[in-house]
Amino acid sequence: MTNLPKLPAHVAIIMDGNGRWARQHALSVMRGHRQGVEALREIIRYSSDIGIQVLSLYAFSTENWSRPEAEVAALMRLIVEFFHSEIDELHQNQVRIRILGDVDGLTQPARQAVLQATERTAQNTGLQLNIALNYGAHSEMLRAVRLLLAEVQSGALRPDQVDLGSISQRLYTAGQPQVDLLIRTSGEQRLSNFLLFQSAYAELLFPDILWPDFTVAHYKEALATYGGRDRRFGGRKA
Ligand code: IPE
Ligand code: IPE
Ligand code: MG
Repeated sequence: MTNLPKLPAHVAIIMDGNGRWARQHALSVMRGHRQGVEALREIIRYSSDIGIQVLSLYAFSTENWSRPEAEVAALMRLIVEFFHSEIDELHQNQVRIRILGDVDGLTQPARQAVLQATERTAQNTGLQLNIALNYGAHSEMLRAVRLLLAEVQSGALRPDQVDLGSISQRLYTAGQPQVDLLIRTSGEQRLSNFLLFQSAYAELLFPDILWPDFTVAHYKEALATYGGRDRRFGGRKA
């Protein structure tokens, strides 16, 4: 299906720039978010087609609650809408959905929609699609530490048994490979609390394109750039 060299196993995307796109087009912020969903649909489909193993999308951060109430409420509704309109096709394409983040903090309809989607696709064997909702890497690490402490306290785990694997296994991405390629659109060059542990050796790309304008052609370009990167992981190549 593809002649791309060295495909990343795990691609993470910080989908940024919906607000600026809306402003550029003199539209409401929500129209920007809606346009962002169009971009997302194409990127998921293409990732699934070319056999990417894991795709992680940053959709709503723990910090995004500080946005105006109306925007937060509309985003929650958009999440529900997204799952209702996309779930059949995703399921048909064998996409398996996992939510990264604290689902309990979502609005009730959003929580119900994501839990249904997760459950329905749990046995699928195609693209692993992670959607980060109410996600923050700091909260994720704190949660992992608390889970470990509880196990130590109950006697299920000895402190000297705690290793990097035990931390990885208590992150939302448990069992998945580390991030190989992290893309943030819109030109901003920061991680904004996304997958900090998992991206320790990720290749970073910051295309100067607002998320609603990000097409499969841009994505292919990013994958090709990744393919050309020399990943050394601290070692030295002969
Ligand atoms: C990213 O777009 C989407 C979310 C955070 C939900 P933004 O809304 O952050 O877009 P800008 O950064 O204002 O352009
Ligand atoms: C990061 O974008 C979160 C998502 C894309 C969901 P933000 O727009 O919220 O990040 P900052 O505020 O620019 O760091
Ligand atoms: Mg932003």
